[in-house]
Amino acid sequence: MSDSNIIVALDYPTSDAALALAKQLDPARCRLKIGKELFTRSGPVIVETLVKQGFDIFLDLKYHDIPNTVAKACAAAADLGVWMMNVHTLGGGAMMIAAREALGSQDDRPLLIGVTLLTSMDQTTFEQIGLQGSISDTVLRLAKLADDSGLDGVVCSAQEAAQLRSQRGQDFQLVTPGIRPENSEQGDQHRTMTPLEAITAGSTQLVIGRPITAASDPMAAFEAIEKSLN
Ligand code: C5P
Repeated sequence: MSDSNIIVALDYPTSDAALALAKQLDPARCRLKIGKELFTRSGPVIVETLVKQGFDIFLDLKYHDIPNTVAKACAAAADLGVWMMNVHTLGGGAMMIAAREALGSQDDRPLLIGVTLLTSMDQTTFEQIGLQGSISDTVLRLAKLADDSGLDGVVCSAQEAAQLRSQRGQDFQLVTPGIRPENSEQGDQHRTMTPLEAITAGSTQLVIGRPITAASDPMAAFEAIEKSLN
């Protein structure tokens, strides 16, 4: 179990590529995120392999289905030994409560996080699916629903972290992607923050992909980020 607040996003199409990066990383100094692409191509075995290597795994599959199905999927993810998993808060309170109950109450149970609104959602998409009001108020409302449903935190933009931290208290996990170290490529991320800015704003975990995975020397990039936080 690591106490690092850096989660490296293993956004690779093959398990060989993911394992090659993991080989360079130290499970005591970072955690790893496995998302839909790698999981769909490589299956549960990549999760089990990395867990065996000592890594804390955030399984980012954003479950969103009827409560019974999501609860069973969460129990299956827990059986793989993951450290954190997530559901989509738009699945509603009953779904989140069922998911949380499926994980039990032992101290070493996996953490359960909610996705509020995807950061790719703009006002047009928001209204297109019939949602009303502002995106930021909706994020705050869905985070409260996640908290009330027993979830451990939410995935959010670092821009929302300070407000969520003050509304939801110190124990609520704020997992933030869209992190870009000083002078790194923004890629398709908008409204980014540096690692230190995000932690200062109240993030508990930083999800960092391309600034590490696409670097010519991933370990050097990782160490520079780690240093910027110390
Ligand atoms: O490469 P980069 O650092 O942009 O990767 C960010 C990771 O966080 C990707 O795995 C992406 O899917 C994920 N993510 C995100 N924005 C969200 C939720 C997840 O960028 N709102």
